[in-house]
Amino acid sequence: MSDKRDGRPEAAIPQRGDALWEWSVFWHSDQLQACLPEDSAVGDQNLHTTWRAFFDALPDGAEVLDLGTGNGGLATQAVAVSRTRATPFTIHGVDLADIAPAQFVSSAKDLLAGVVFHGRTSMQALPFADGKFDAVVSQYAIEYTNVESSLAEALRVLKVGGCFRFLVHADDGVLKQRCCLQASQAEHILKSDLFITTESLLHRLVEAETIRTGTKIAEAEEAIAASRVVFDNLEDRFAGDEDRSLVDNLFAAIRTLPGMRRSHSIATLVSMTEEIRLLLLAQSKRLNAMQDAALDIASLTEFASYIKALGGSQLELEQATTGTAANCVGHWLSGTKAAKAKGMQA
Ligand SMILES: C[S@@+](CC[C@H](N)C(=O)[O-])C[C@H]1O[C@@H](n2cnc3c(N)ncnc32)[C@H](O)[C@@H]1O
Repeated sequence: MSDKRDGRPEAAIPQRGDALWEWSVFWHSDQLQACLPEDSAVGDQNLHTTWRAFFDALPDGAEVLDLGTGNGGLATQAVAVSRTRATPFTIHGVDLADIAPAQFVSSAKDLLAGVVFHGRTSMQALPFADGKFDAVVSQYAIEYTNVESSLAEALRVLKVGGCFRFLVHADDGVLKQRCCLQASQAEHILKSDLFITTESLLHRLVEAETIRTGTKIAEAEEAIAASRVVFDNLEDRFAGDEDRSLVDNLFAAIRTLPGMRRSHSIATLVSMTEEIRLLLLAQSKRLNAMQDAALDIASLTEFASYIKALGGSQLELEQATTGTAANCVGHWLSGTKAAKAKGMQA
């Protein structure tokens, strides 16, 4: 199969139906990490400082495991600290999605080379020996899974005396708020006629230019009008929305398609329309998963009680905040693995 379509590289949209297809789609793009808003440089810095302190406290040569690593945004922070050590850390990152950070991420290439990635690997069945790791971490990932089994695995592979730190989504945090709005925007667009009218518009425009009859030109004009109505209705629907990033990016992508008809075949334009729809579908699935994953106080308490039952001790729970407004972006859960799990026989 050719890897080019009209001079355009074949899009790398993973196979639908695969486990966590929606995340594989995301990680097959040039993104180092997920969830944090693009404009959250300050918040990101707050989180970065906390992670830095955690990795700084690890011994030389520590073995570190990042659960739900994605494209390795958190793991690379461990690599940066490791480089200051006489004996570097060994850092593993697991993710159930189809990840290939070296192939898709253009930034941090050097740091990414310091991580051993394990794609298509569930954190609920880790391929590591008991007590292998000095530290187990997760950033916005463990709460997406069956927490009871993921925590059991995390504590199993952690050494006695080893430490863990998890950053989890908060049910009342700003990330979830943003997620809810974008999820409803995505759902509304997916249910609208946007993609059907765009495809029809592309066909009618190409036909009108190829078969220059009055009928074909009139059909093209009708298709332009129909497309305008769909856009106007959607614009009305999203007019008051505080965050328009999803809508604006999507509309911009769709609006460039007609202008590409002289350099691309109709078949390519139609498949590009379908790709945009699939990307939106994947985004919608991720946004819904994030909403389901966010922990309220009751589930956070349950989460902490699982850790205690598995031998976690010195448990600390604190809110993660961003910037001067101290917006909540999640909860930190940290602690160590005690010598013996509660209820274990000597
Ligand atoms: C919100 S992303 C976070 C990624 C990364 N930690 C970051 O901060 O950028 C959640 C990740 O958890 C992964 N995930 C979900 N369920 C999983 C499972 N059972 N085992 C391993 N990874 C899983 C997803 O594929 C996704 O990459």
